[in-house]
Amino acid sequence: MTSPPSARPRRVAVIGSGPSGLYTAEALLEGDPELHVDVIDRLPAPYGLVRYGVAPDHLKMKSVIRALVTTFDDAARVRFLGNTHVGDAGIPGEVLREHYHAVVHAIGSAIDRGLGVEGEDLTGSVGSGAFVSWYCGHPDATGSAPALDRSGVVVVGAGNVAIDVARVLARPAEDLAATDLHDEVLERLRDSAVTDVHVLIRRGPQHVKFTPAELRALAKLDDVEVRVHDDGLLAAGVEEPGERRMRQNIETLTAWAADPPGAGGRRRIHLRFLRSPARLVGDDEGRVAAVEIERNEVGDDGRVRGTGETDTVDAGLVVRAIGYAGEPIAGLPFDEATGTVPHEAGRVMLGGEPVRGSYVAGWIKRGPTGVIGTNKGDGAETAASVLADLPDLGCPPRPGGDAVLERLREFGIEPVQWDDWRRLDAAEIALGERRGGTERVKIAERAAMLEAARGSHTSAR
Ligand SMILES: Cc1cc2nc3c(=O)[nH]c(=O)nc-3n(C[C@H](O)[C@H](O)[C@H](O)COP(=O)(O)OP(=O)(O)OC[C@H]3O[C@@H](n4cnc5c(N)ncnc54)[C@H](O)[C@@H]3O)c2cc1C
Ligand SMILES: NC(=O)c1ccc[n+]([C@@H]2O[C@H](COP(=O)([O-])OP(=O)(O)OC[C@H]3O[C@@H](n4cnc5c(N)ncnc54)[C@H](OP(=O)(O)O)[C@@H]3O)[C@@H](O)[C@H]2O)c1
Repeated sequence: MTSPPSARPRRVAVIGSGPSGLYTAEALLEGDPELHVDVIDRLPAPYGLVRYGVAPDHLKMKSVIRALVTTFDDAARVRFLGNTHVGDAGIPGEVLREHYHAVVHAIGSAIDRGLGVEGEDLTGSVGSGAFVSWYCGHPDATGSAPALDRSGVVVVGAGNVAIDVARVLARPAEDLAATDLHDEVLERLRDSAVTDVHVLIRRGPQHVKFTPAELRALAKLDDVEVRVHDDGLLAAGVEEPGERRMRQNIETLTAWAADPPGAGGRRRIHLRFLRSPARLVGDDEGRVAAVEIERNEVGDDGRVRGTGETDTVDAGLVVRAIGYAGEPIAGLPFDEATGTVPHEAGRVMLGGEPVRGSYVAGWIKRGPTGVIGTNKGDGAETAASVLADLPDLGCPPRPGGDAVLERLREFGIEPVQWDDWRRLDAAEIALGERRGGTERVKIAERAAMLEAARGSHTSAR
């Protein structure tokens, strides 16, 4: 595709430096050799959930960063502007928009969905977003360490996030020392009194969303027993699911129901099928002390119905790992039911018409499902729409380049640029060397991240 001659190179802002933002930016840069792209993120560090969601012990998965980082290779055409919140808390979207031909919103889905049960607001009841942010050292989650001083924990959900949470809580903390876990998180996990992690799965074994390899990996944890509580369903034989992934899960769960892996381990993960939390029971201080659990039936329509039969487990922490929702973006349409922005091939749609120059990619586009790789095709689709539309989008009223930096400063924002991030990155790697045998140790506090990015960080915080 050839661009008409232009006094200024065309410019696209990609808001969000998670996988979808970076894959979109990569496809944009590849698709138009003259295009300039600014990748903007509210955090001082790039990579979104790869840094702040992927579990610390998934070291292989984190190595996807080696591929994502190449997006920034062509420093003349792509910039990272971190520490830059787009929205009321930073620079309003419509102000930023004045500097770009097109804007791609790749902001993910960061809101924890709720269960709607009594007691959900008690202290010690958290969404997986909040809990994972804590153990991943997210700057918004410093100071939110959960109390791990009781033996029981309840995790609700049957997706990979529920597995991550259960695994991090159950595996010996020393096995996590060789990861990027912040020191304070590691200490909290070392001191943990948790012995029993109850995973409440509202439907049957044939309905779980676990990736088979993630499920199987639970059996390899040191000193952890995995108990399957299925009311004899698996022994009786469940209907053979069509999908291979589901058949593999059934195979694993059937074997474990008969012969629990890690039997006698110091900690236990209980996979409790056909169970939902009916009520969270608080103590006198307003903290979760127990969970009343209801047995479910699943109708032929796949819908879950409570039977009214309940039992109670002691738990000092309840983590809902039941999915996420996106947040509305000022000035753009939003579908409250799905928590996404309506789009066609990444073009934001309002009343059947595209909203000129506005695009979406990743979880805010298609909802909070899919692995990192899913965002590659998704980003490529959005980038193709942007590239096709660019010749007709007209020139933005304000210039790019340094003018964007000046505009950000008017809003009190000093962006973390790529070289700044490399300094922060180096400081984390140095902390990893100091701990010994680990690739990096995360710096979690925003102020400390900014200090390190600006070259004035002296100690691990
Ligand atoms: C807990 C968890 C663990 C996961 N583990 C794995 C795994 O092991 N393997 C795997 O393949 N997949 C995993 N996934 C899925 C994978 O992380 C997602 O598919 C992917 O991150 C979605 O990409 P995204 O770019 O849409 O969103 P995100 O990764 O969430 O990126 C969104 C970015 O936008 C930024 N942002 C948000 N709002 C603003 C704003 N207003 N202004 C500026 N910036 C903003 C955020 O700071 C963030 O950097 C996991 C998901 C979760 C929730
Ligand atoms: N290692 C990895 O590759 C990895 C790790 C983490 C995350 N991810 C990916 O990231 C995405 C998000 O993961 P996720 O685990 O958040 O989502 P998910 O896979 O969609 O799982 C959500 C789970 O929550 C359950 N749920 C929803 N509402 C509920 C309610 N009200 N009560 C009880 N249970 C409820 C769902 O059950 P129903 O099926 O009954 O609705 C489902 O089991 C997924 O695509 C996942 O594969 C991948």
